[in-house]
Amino acid sequence: MAIPQHTIDQILDRTDIVDLIGQRVKLKKTGRTYSGCCPFHQEKSPSFHVYRDKQYFHCFGCQANGNAIRFLMDIDGRNFIDVMKDLSSRTGIELPKDNNDSNRIKYKREAVKPAPTAQLKEQPKSTTDQAQNAALDAHFDPFAEFQAQENDYYGDPFASFEQMPMEETPQDGNLFDLLENIAQYYQRQLPQSASAQQYFKQRGLSAETIDYWRLGYAPEDWQHLEKAFPQDIEGLKLLGLIRTSDNGRDFDLLRDRVIFPIRDAKGRVVGFGGRALNDEIKPKYINSPDSEVFHKNQLLYGLYEGRKQKAQDWLMVEGYMDVIALQQYGISGAVATLGTASNTEHLNILFKQNNRITIAFDGDAAGQKAARRTLEIALPLLNDGRELKFFVLPNDHDPDSLIRREGIENFHRLLQQAPLLSDFVFAHLTQNHDVTKPEGKSQVMGELRQLTELLPKQGSYRYLLQQFFREKLGFSRKWQPQVNNDASLSFSTKIDAEEYVIAILMNHPYLYIHFEPLRALIAQDQLLFKILNIFNIIFDDLPDDTELSQYYVLGACAAYHHDLQNILLHANVSDYTSSPEQADKLAEDFSIKLQYQCLQQKLKSKKFASIAEMRNLKQKIYEIDKKRSLTLLED
Ligand code: UTP
Ligand code: MN
Repeated sequence: MAIPQHTIDQILDRTDIVDLIGQRVKLKKTGRTYSGCCPFHQEKSPSFHVYRDKQYFHCFGCQANGNAIRFLMDIDGRNFIDVMKDLSSRTGIELPKDNNDSNRIKYKREAVKPAPTAQLKEQPKSTTDQAQNAALDAHFDPFAEFQAQENDYYGDPFASFEQMPMEETPQDGNLFDLLENIAQYYQRQLPQSASAQQYFKQRGLSAETIDYWRLGYAPEDWQHLEKAFPQDIEGLKLLGLIRTSDNGRDFDLLRDRVIFPIRDAKGRVVGFGGRALNDEIKPKYINSPDSEVFHKNQLLYGLYEGRKQKAQDWLMVEGYMDVIALQQYGISGAVATLGTASNTEHLNILFKQNNRITIAFDGDAAGQKAARRTLEIALPLLNDGRELKFFVLPNDHDPDSLIRREGIENFHRLLQQAPLLSDFVFAHLTQNHDVTKPEGKSQVMGELRQLTELLPKQGSYRYLLQQFFREKLGFSRKWQPQVNNDASLSFSTKIDAEEYVIAILMNHPYLYIHFEPLRALIAQDQLLFKILNIFNIIFDDLPDDTELSQYYVLGACAAYHHDLQNILLHANVSDYTSSPEQADKLAEDFSIKLQYQCLQQKLKSKKFASIAEMRNLKQKIYEIDKKRSLTLLED
């Protein structure tokens, strides 16, 4: 059984790891975490921690760690599917059933007289053909392995289909096969229609592009699909590609339109968009309706192609033609929704491809409104590390027309200049207020607060964003530590990395989230260790307001007042405020770098309790190293 990622995510969302582990291990709340004696190794003092915010457990003794699924698998020695079944019944979120799944995509085929030869071409190809095509494609496709598995999973009801006499044994049809055959049918119609070819030509599409996107043409005939697929009327109806009129006559949904086949993330054709050949005809686009295999809310046009091309930068645009034009000009990774507004699911899909995504909007009022709406959907998804950029297009342009006017280089430059969320929001909120006046400023801060309320509760971004606004509006004095002229304080002017972390924490308490893992790694006699422990206790209670939170932290760390003053005097952390996104990223990178150093030192010191501990340590170093290689910091 293949469990889709969104089901796994849903189940994890509904499971609380503290409750789950609490049923097996006696846990005590200590500051932000819950701790107890580790169930995976023998110990007397608790080094097993469970983090509710991260839905994660970690034992500092034996390095066991993971999420709820990992916990159940390891504690009971059960396999993944078994654990998922258990969690499914706890949460009430159902797992897909193999049978249901293959029934969903089946329909009854009709027996017909042996078809005239001309029509034999249209007989369904078996899934074996598709599997073979996929295999031929394999070297292009990072997901080929997954796909092959999936083909197994759906089985192959037509494996021996072609050897059977057609007219005698009507078999169940498979919607995916039917869709594939219809796509091929539409593709074959294109060379037969001068007007459709002329249309694509006039829109500047090359033959390769037409081929790559498998573009086609649906003829004018009212019943072309019925004629081409006489055995598959039920399937065509399930797909919404034929309609029944009031007087009971079936007719095709898409007629005299150029066709954009829509593929799912695995590359299977699941639906079609059809565009009129002339702008007078309304509606301009008709999309096939949602069906058992076509869920517009969970699909992005161009996702499969972008992944195949190993796209790094993802850009959300409005239309099929934008995606296609950008690809023809060499920009992969453009995706479009299927005639619907973008929703949480769409953004989540994109954030899975890359932490940084860009959304294109029209420059007009409608575009502004759409941007605002998307902003509200996106904010709750912005965990630390995720970045959203807003590409506002010049008036009266869409990406298709813009890249044709500007060419790839200029387009790229404009795209790169797209503002980060923080700058975009600042521009958006300040445009209607006079921010030279205190009233205007506080109105902006009020509106900002409404927006930051939408950000995830856990995470530093909301605080950084507020601080960024306050500074841009010239609201808060730049916070300065009290300077004490006591001569005994002016010893070393050089500060080391640990002290630098302290300075960051004092200025930006909410960045603690990134430095927390250091608590388990650094020597206990270090000042940083003591400071991190204090943060662990007070973090939940930090005031929302950045400035207040700084004073709060200073108060809590009063015992180290002298040391702190010296550090703050000599550490220059002002860079950290240039943009909230940058501050978050720098803190994370810096923390990873330090974690790596600490682990390396520990490995060199050769003080391990057991071989297992050493192995764990090496594994950890390996994992951190992987993360480290992604960061921008050099040693
Ligand atoms: P637009 O109307 O912005 O057009 O539709 P476009 O993409 O620039 O189209 P061209 O360049 O004139 O061909 C954007 C998207 O909205 C959906 C389609 O998915 C389209 O790609 N749409 C538009 C519909 O579903 N129905 C319509 O009638 C119009
Ligand atoms: Mn357009």
